[in-house]
Amino acid sequence: MILRSSRLYKKKMVVAGNGLFYPIIGFASCLAFLYMSFHSFSDLRSDFREEEHQLAFVKRNGTQFTLEGKPFYINGWNSYWLMYHAVDEYSRPRVREMLQAGAKMGLTLCRTWAFNDGEYNALQLSPGQFDERVFKALDHVIVEARQQGVRLLLCLVNNLQNYGGKSQYVRWAWQEGVGLSSSNDSFFFDPSIRNYFKSYIKTILTRKNTLNGIEYRDDPTIFAWELINEPRCSTDASGDTLQDWIEEMSEFVKVIDKKHLLTVGLEGFYGPKNPKALTVNPEQWASRLGSDFIRNSKIPSIDFASVHMYPDHWFHDLEVEDHLKFVTKWMLSHIEDGEKELNKPVMFTEFGLADQLDRFYKTIFDVIYKSAKKHQAGAGALAWQFLVAGMDKYNDEFGIVPWERPSTYKLIIEQTCRLAKIQGPILEQRNLKELCLQKQ
Ligand SMILES: *[C@@H]1O[C@H](CO)[C@@H](O)[C@H](O)[C@H]1NC(C)=O
Ligand SMILES: *[C@@H]1O[C@H](CO)[C@@H](O)[C@H](O)[C@H]1NC(C)=O
Repeated sequence: MILRSSRLYKKKMVVAGNGLFYPIIGFASCLAFLYMSFHSFSDLRSDFREEEHQLAFVKRNGTQFTLEGKPFYINGWNSYWLMYHAVDEYSRPRVREMLQAGAKMGLTLCRTWAFNDGEYNALQLSPGQFDERVFKALDHVIVEARQQGVRLLLCLVNNLQNYGGKSQYVRWAWQEGVGLSSSNDSFFFDPSIRNYFKSYIKTILTRKNTLNGIEYRDDPTIFAWELINEPRCSTDASGDTLQDWIEEMSEFVKVIDKKHLLTVGLEGFYGPKNPKALTVNPEQWASRLGSDFIRNSKIPSIDFASVHMYPDHWFHDLEVEDHLKFVTKWMLSHIEDGEKELNKPVMFTEFGLADQLDRFYKTIFDVIYKSAKKHQAGAGALAWQFLVAGMDKYNDEFGIVPWERPSTYKLIIEQTCRLAKIQGPILEQRNLKELCLQKQ
C-alpha cells in the first residue's frame, strides 16, 4: 500500500508539473486517475474458484452488451486458426498459448472460424458429412477458451474462398447435380445450398461437446454466432438477395438457439440508398456489393452489428493521416447508427493496417473508450489478427505476435484497464488487478 501511494504521488506531480501541455500529458493524467481509482478493484473476488463459478451468457439491452446485468465493453482479437491448429497434436499447444496470452492481456473475446469446408483438415467434408476428428478439435478450442476465461465469437462460413467458403458450397451443389447456377452468389439464392447451410448450422448449434458434455447452443463460453465472414453479393446490388438470406438464416439460428447473440459479419458498407454511401463509404465500389449495413443489421433476429476496417485496402493513394481520419469517421458514423437507427451494439470485429499499427490501434481504442464512457453503442473492437511465434505461414500483412511488440502490447493492456475502469472487473479477468496496477 505504501509503495502504491508513493507512486501515485509521483504521478500526480508529473501531471501538475506539465499542466500547460494538457493534451500531451492527457495520457499521464489518465494513468494517475487509474491509480487513484484502483482501490475500487480491491473488492475483486480473490477466492475465485473455477468449479463454483457458473459462467454467464452475454446478453444485450438496447445498445449495450451486458454481463450479469452490467454493461460489458470488449477488448478482444481475432485468431481464425484455432480449430485448424487444434486438430493435429503438434500444433494443438498453440491454441492454449494464444488463449492464455489473450487472457493475460485481459482480453475477453476471441473471434475464430467454426468452419472449414472441404479443405485440408476440413470440418465439413461434403454437405452434411463431418470429420469427428476436427469436431473434437473445435470441442477442444471451446473448453480451452473457457478454462482461460475467454469467450468466443464463432463464425459459420466464409464469403471468401479461404477454408472453403461459399464457392465450396456452390461446387458441392454442382457436383451433386442440384446447383442452379455456377455463380458463387448462388450460395445466397439457391434453395439447395440454403438447405446445405441450414443443415450445417443445425449440426454446429446442437453439437454436444465430447469433452464437457455441453451442447454448443447451451455453452456461455460462446459469446455469439456470426453468420458469415464479410458477405458480399455483387450480382444483386439492390441488396434484396443478401437481405433475404440473412433474414432466413438468422431466424433459423434463433429457432434452434435462443440463448446466444447473433451478428451478420458485415464489413459495414452503406447501401446505395443510404446518404452515407456518398459521405462515409470509402469509395464508390462499396455501395455496389449487395450489402447494406443499416438494412442488414436492422433485422430483428440480428442482435448486434458488425463492422470491419481496412483503410489501406479500401483506398487507393491515401496517406496514413487520412487513413486515421477515415477510421475515426467510419467508427463514429456506425456508432451513431447503433444509437439512432438500430438501437443495437456495434462491434468492430476486424481491423487491420499494415503500417503505423500503434497509431491505428490507439485511434480505434480511443473511439471505443469514449463511446463506452458515455454508454453509447460502440461495444468493442477485435484486432485482426494475433498469432503465436512460428506461424508465419498463417499470417497475412496484418498479423502480429503482440508480446513481440512492446509498444503495441502496452496499448492493448491500457485499453483493457480503462474499459475495466468503466465496467468494473469481469469475473473471468482473473489477473486484472495485477495487470492494471503493475503494468503502468
Ligand atoms: C435495460 O436498460 C434500461 C435503460 O438503461 C434499464 O432501465 C433496464 O432496467 C435495463 N433492462 C434490463 C433487463 O437490464
Ligand atoms: C467462384 O469463386 C472461385 C474462388 O474464388 C473462383 O475461382 C471462381 O472463378 C468463381 N466462380 C465464378 C463463376 O465466378
